[in-house]
Amino acid sequence: MEPDQQAIYLNEYALGGRLTEESFSVRSRTLPPVPDGGVLLETRYLSVDPYMRGCMTGLDNYYLPQFDLARPLHSVGIGRVRESRNPEFAEDDLVVGSLEWSPVSVWHPAEGATRRPGGALRRIERSTIAPSHHLGALGTTGITAFFGVLAVACPQPGETFLLSSAAGGVGTVAGQIAKLRGARVYGMTSTAEKRDVLVRKLGFDAALDYRSPDLVDELRDLMPNGPDIYFDKSGAGSGRR
Ligand SMILES: NC(=O)c1ccc[n+]([C@@H]2O[C@H](COP(=O)([O-])OP(=O)(O)OC[C@H]3O[C@@H](n4cnc5c(N)ncnc54)[C@H](OP(=O)(O)O)[C@@H]3O)[C@@H](O)[C@H]2O)c1
Repeated sequence: MEPDQQAIYLNEYALGGRLTEESFSVRSRTLPPVPDGGVLLETRYLSVDPYMRGCMTGLDNYYLPQFDLARPLHSVGIGRVRESRNPEFAEDDLVVGSLEWSPVSVWHPAEGATRRPGGALRRIERSTIAPSHHLGALGTTGITAFFGVLAVACPQPGETFLLSSAAGGVGTVAGQIAKLRGARVYGMTSTAEKRDVLVRKLGFDAALDYRSPDLVDELRDLMPNGPDIYFDKSGAGSGRR
């Protein structure tokens, strides 16, 4: 039997208020035995994603279930299989799926049928690609960017493609895909360091500070008629001209 493990819990829902450090606690818990079809996982990486905030509101109008206050927080993560009672997974496999915020957790096959992001556990091949990329460009972040750009926005060569939250997980991938499609890509983000990465490392055509008092003039200089596509990830709404 595994010794007791520490895990991170949400103490109470925000219910329209702010979440603070006091909203969370580290508690000790006893791990359940590994069920038939389940695996014992050692946590390697956990993704901290914006959707999680919506699961902490206590409101039932969100597209995902609220976190259970009696259970540790969970999110998509990478784990190493320490013990397996599932023929699809062997000891030492690296897997991606929904992991509890604890150094060790038990993945139950029933998770595969839930609406938890990453509910179904999937083995990842060991390769020269860092496992953490399966939480980024090779994971839901990359998939979101891929379909958002190629199935919805569909930028054409020479079109202007403006992104908010450009230096975030989705934005960095979306901007690069639009660039590969031949668009002129302009990203908005907060700091000079992030803007430098967008232009120098990721090949964006320009990066702008969305808090700058000169933003409107800068946008007009780049796109006198406005962008052909606005790819928004901060809540205002994407669109095509
Ligand atoms: N990641 C996924 O797999 C996924 C899947 C589906 C949907 N989404 C949605 O896509 C959006 C972006 O997700 P992400 O994973 O890329 O997030 P992220 O990596 O956490 O990036 C979010 C960025 O938004 C910027 N931001 C925060 N507040 C802002 C404000 N008030 N105005 C403008 N920018 C602000 C911040 O960068 P700066 O302020 O420095 O620019 C922040 O780094 C979220 O709404 C998320 O729910 C994500």
